[in-house]
Amino acid sequence: MQRLRIDLIAAARPNFMKVAPLFHVLHEQPWCRLRLVHTGQHYDQNMSEAFFRDLKLPPPDLHLGVGSGSHAKQTADVMLAYEEACAADRPDLVVVVGDVNSTMACALVGAKLHIPIAHLEAGLRSGDRRMPEEINRLVTDTLADILWTPSPDADEHLAAEGVPPEKITRVGNIMIDSYELMRERIDASGERRRLGLENHAYAVVTLHRPSNVDTPTPLTALVDQLIRMAARLPLVFPVHPRTRKNLEAFGLCSKLADAPNLQVIEPLGYVDFMNLVCGAHLAITDSGGIQEETTYLGIPCLTLRTTTERPITITEGTNRLVTAAGLVPAVDEILAGRWPQGRKPRLWDGHTAARVAADIRRRLLRAPPHVAEATAVPATAHQRTRGNA
Ligand code: UD1
Repeated sequence: MQRLRIDLIAAARPNFMKVAPLFHVLHEQPWCRLRLVHTGQHYDQNMSEAFFRDLKLPPPDLHLGVGSGSHAKQTADVMLAYEEACAADRPDLVVVVGDVNSTMACALVGAKLHIPIAHLEAGLRSGDRRMPEEINRLVTDTLADILWTPSPDADEHLAAEGVPPEKITRVGNIMIDSYELMRERIDASGERRRLGLENHAYAVVTLHRPSNVDTPTPLTALVDQLIRMAARLPLVFPVHPRTRKNLEAFGLCSKLADAPNLQVIEPLGYVDFMNLVCGAHLAITDSGGIQEETTYLGIPCLTLRTTTERPITITEGTNRLVTAAGLVPAVDEILAGRWPQGRKPRLWDGHTAARVAADIRRRLLRAPPHVAEATAVPATAHQRTRGNA
């Protein structure tokens, strides 16, 4: 049987949760031969290996070992290394996920080598081009041949940008697949107990966006607000390496460490972190994924940003955008029980990876889709030719 050679690109912490369910479903398909490529954008034990272990991913087939650097350097290093990998063993399809620098870099390499590109989590837009992720999303979606979207707003953005509808399939939210896959282990993790946290009586905090943590003024304001908030309910704050470096550089570490009711801890693996989220009364974050996970779980989420590329978490879910000054009043609203319960968006159901696999098959192998809910669109002649070459 002709097997489609698929490169699945993993790079940074938020990618691993998107790659894992897809890896597990594609790995089972007799028509596909997978190569798991880790670019090395995230490399610390607790930013990378812990996620591979938790999500039951095997060691990558190829590790590009790129590491940190300026945006240009990181992007260029991924491009150079991945171009070489494609020259040595050319895939039939490159699957990139999310919006990190490696996503865009691998999409660029594939596009220039005329290898079809598929983007999982396509169409998200914050409208804020000062966010590096927004640039990565725009470039990746421009280059992609197949665009898998999580929500109707994403379809609308792509249509407004002139992406032909036959390239787009709404597949739902892959992050929910990871949660459902790991749910039992998340419930059994015991992380809340280890940290002495009482169920539904604490808030979990994450911060790493450059706009919040890279300069002293916003980071100091946030630290002050977190300390005020900890007087209302206990906080647990797993600190991203970017944020830790800046807390140290701006002399804010001891202020945080001395605050009562506030635990500053190292970044956690997926299972332990989700155990903390599931038991939290609320989440305070600037991450993309946590806005989605809390919407799915019905937990109030305060997002410290002026925009979100995931507006469905506000229109249908439990998420609100807040400023540092608005944090404490919003927490008071939540503690008073005045917060929308929200609902789970359509196709956020744990079956996104299966819909992606069916879509690849339908587009590239001409097999009928077995998953009814994927939006049916015909494959282009170009895609059919490549897939059957
Ligand atoms: C990256 C992504 C962002 C994502 C975030 C999740 C881009 C542009 N940004 O941001 O979209 O939400 O990951 O974590 O791709 N570092 C370590 N160890 C690591 C990884 C990073 O110490 O394993 C340090 C680096 O040296 C660097 C800083 O953390 O100083 C930032 O890492 P980088 O990958 O550049 O961006 P993130 O802020 O993690």
